[in-house]
Parts: sequence; structure tokens; C-alpha cells
Amino acid sequence: MSVQRKVIVVGSGVAGMAFAHRLSALTRGQQVEIQLLSKAGPQASNSNAAQGGVAAVIHPADSWEKHRDDTLRVGDGRCDPAVVERVVKEGAASIEELLAKGARFDLDGDGRLNAAREGGHSAARVVHRGDRTGAELVRVLYEQVKRDPRIKVEETLMALDLLTEEGPQGRRCTGIRTMDVRTGAITEHHAHVTVLATGGSGRIYRHTTNPAGATGAGVAMAIRAGVPLRDMAFVQFHPTALYEPGKADTFLISEAVRGAGAVLLMPDGSRLMDGRHPMADLAPRNIVARAIHAVMRETGVDHVRLDATRIGEARFAREFPMILDHCWSIGLDPMKEPIPVMPAAHYLCGGIATDADGRTGLDGLIALGECAGSGLHGADRLASNSLLEALVIPRYAAAAVAGDRHGDPLPSDAVTGRIMLMDAEAATTAATSRMRDCMTANVGIVRENEGLRTAARELEEVRNTADVQWQAGERSLALMELRDMVLVARAICQQAMQEPANTGAHFNVDNERRGVKPRVATLVDGATA
Ligand code: SIN
Repeated sequence: MSVQRKVIVVGSGVAGMAFAHRLSALTRGQQVEIQLLSKAGPQASNSNAAQGGVAAVIHPADSWEKHRDDTLRVGDGRCDPAVVERVVKEGAASIEELLAKGARFDLDGDGRLNAAREGGHSAARVVHRGDRTGAELVRVLYEQVKRDPRIKVEETLMALDLLTEEGPQGRRCTGIRTMDVRTGAITEHHAHVTVLATGGSGRIYRHTTNPAGATGAGVAMAIRAGVPLRDMAFVQFHPTALYEPGKADTFLISEAVRGAGAVLLMPDGSRLMDGRHPMADLAPRNIVARAIHAVMRETGVDHVRLDATRIGEARFAREFPMILDHCWSIGLDPMKEPIPVMPAAHYLCGGIATDADGRTGLDGLIALGECAGSGLHGADRLASNSLLEALVIPRYAAAAVAGDRHGDPLPSDAVTGRIMLMDAEAATTAATSRMRDCMTANVGIVRENEGLRTAARELEEVRNTADVQWQAGERSLALMELRDMVLVARAICQQAMQEPANTGAHFNVDNERRGVKPRVATLVDGATA
């Protein structure tokens, strides 16, 4: 029997796997081929690294309306309220579904789900499995996907570009070009629907909590294909990445640690968040990250400290075993001394603009998860809303795709060439480093007009260097990733230059100097929202 429709999913984090799994269930008995492609498998995904949890209303005293209001408040006027409502209403059902699939979450003494507190939430509603919730979701979904003979899983294919063509109804996406990272083979895969679920882009910054693959591939492909983006100025910095000088990868100290009672300290030992926001250490992330940034700048230190000793050893060990192991592995005992921390790039709140079903501005293309700008997060993301988004929106996207039974015959997939992969040249390594420093200094937690103009210039130069390297024949993975990252970095910088006011995670000191009122008071004096 020939396949009537083919759907390619790029990215095997929670959003990509949740979509593939749901589409398979909804199209049972139909001739639908589902391919799930990634360059390194689900363990390398951003989802797998997520510590915190899934935000979901599970306590009788809580309500989806409160969850909605928290999301809108943290999103600072830039969320799409219809998307917010759709997502937060399905928190409890999403958890139920995961439990039915075999997910294990932490329980309290009475055997009920134990919800943690995180920043910006007015209630404890972060369902978690220790400090490895993302890995638990990945485990459960991967088991389902691997068991499903209708989902073809490929884990060595790096997505290079979208295939598009002009048709009677306008331009549409017709598939994807990939490169096999083992052999360098370039293949054109044709599909009726292509789904980008490629995750984050934190690697454009010097310090990030994101894994090595978070190079913005999906957003970069969308930019090259002219697909509209949204909310790109809003990069969320996590306030508490572990400070480990000289280490390239940054380890996250979950916000749930502050939710359990840890507090940030000034260099003199007093409480850093006192008097800065009514929610103190659990204020929205942009506020806490900016407060730490201000303290670091004013006092000349390169980190601050997080006192977790008040949590108590038994609870810390039970709820944060991975963090405890990591701290011990570097000779730090968080029960005896404060943890050195600093902010690090964590989450891109915007991305490829989508509607509430994940549809993008290009026919045949869907975007899900962190690479998508669905309007859920607005100008700053409420903690642990992203795993929920990655569970809920794929369900609607899969229903929309399953409901469309039309599919013209497709050309067969074709190998169109082969790249001889080589090591990166020094110029590429230097240009990558320059991009990261430039983004960190000028398009980071605090921005100013002159810095943004400098960044725009420098990023153009980095892009030129990358093009020159490519034209000169360099074919390294690092160069391919740099070409993606610099496009994403430019889009963030350009949108930051156009933001007229300080909103959510975007903060430009020149707006303050000009007397432009922030949408919510962003720092100091306790008067907010
Ligand atoms: C954390 O555990 O602090 C991160 C959770 C999130 O970013 O949603």
C-alpha cells in the first residue's frame, strides 16, 4: 500500500515526540508515515536537561484562572491570552496522561502529587520528579515512540534547510534537507507536513544552561525560508546557574531550590532580593536575573551566592539529588556553604510565529516547543510552563494534521550530495567566540542602544566571516552551527533594537534614561504589576 501522507518531525525533545506519538494514535488505520529526525537523539535535547517540572493546577485551592493570571503577569502584556488559556487549562489532564503512560512524579506523605514552588507562581504547582523531570518525560515518551512501528526514528540527521515550492495556493513547505552527521550524506526528504521542534538557541551566549545542540537550527531555517518570527527580543536568563570558572558548560541550580527556601545573598551576606519585589527570591526570572546582574556590576563580583542550608539535608537530598551530586563532585557541600551562582541564558521566549495549533506563516510547516513563538510566554516565561506547552500544543497540532486527509503523491527521498566533514578552522572557532561575547555583553540581561548598534555591526562581521569560511570550502559541523546561530543572534538583536519599552526580559537602560515607563516596575521598591 502506498503512503498517502508523510509527516516529518525534526527534533526529538518532548514537543517532537509528543506530536509524533499523538499523530500516530490519531491516524491509526490510515496510510500515514511519520518520521522523527534528530541529530543526536532525545537524550541530547533541551527537554532532557529540564530540572524543574511541568506547571499544572493540581491542588483544589489552585485554579486554571490563577495559573493563567500568573502566566499573563510574567509575560508582561505580550502573551496571546487564547493560547495561555488553552495551555494552562490542560495541566492536570497532561499529568494524568503521563501517569497513565508510566511517568513517575514525586509524591507527598499522603501519596498525592507533590508540587514545588517556582518564580512568578502564586501557588505550588510545579509537578516534578526530583530535579530530573525533563529526563522522566523523555524516558516515557521515548519508550512510546520506539515501540510504535509507525514512527520511523532517525538519530543522526542534522536538519539543514526547509524545502519550499510555489504552488497554486502560494508558497509551501515540501520537506527538509538533512545531513547525516556520520557520513556527510545530504538528503532531500519530501513531506506533506514538516514539523520543527528543534529546541533552543542558548548556545549563542557565553554562559547558558542549554546543551550543546541548542544552536537555534529551527529558527535559522525559518529565517532562511522567510517564515515570520515573533517576540525574539525576549531571551530569558535563569538567575541561578552554578558559577564554575573556566567551565564551558553551565550547570543549572533549579529555581525549585529557591522554591524550597534557598535565598540569594549580597556579597556582605544580607538578602539580595529584599525590597526589590514583593515575591523576593521567587519574583519573575527577569527581575531576579536583573537584580543579580546589577549587584555584580555595582560590586565588581562575578557571581553571587545562594544559601540553601536552610532547606535541610534530608529534603535537599530527596528533592535535588542531581544538584547535590554535582555540587559534591566539585567539592562543594550546599548544606554547609552557599552555592556560587550567576545568571545564564536559558530560554528563548519567542521564535517561529505560530497559532494555537502550531501552524506557522508557511503552509505545510508547523513549529512546536522552544523554537516556536506560540504566544504562551510573551515577554518572559513563567517557570515550568514550557514542558506543559510541549505536551499540550502538539496535541492540537496533531489533531489538525490528522484531520487533513489530503496528500498529493510525493517524490522519493533523494541523496543529493555528500559533505566531507572536517574539523573547525581557527577562524570559525574565533568567530563563534566573538559572537558569544558580543551577545553576552550587548544583547544580554541589560541592553543599551549603543551596545545594540555595536552588536548589529559585529554580528554582521561574524556572519561574513562564516560565509567566507564556507565559500573557502570549510565543511565543519561547528561552521554549520555558527551559520545558524548568528542568524538567530541577529534576529534577537534586531528585534531588541525595535522594542520601544522595557518589557519582560527585554531591558534597555536608554528607555529608562528617556523616561519611558516600564510596563511593570522592573526593579526595586516593591511596587509592581
Ligand atoms: C528550573 O528548574 O529552574 C528550570 C525550570 C524551567 O526553566 O522551567
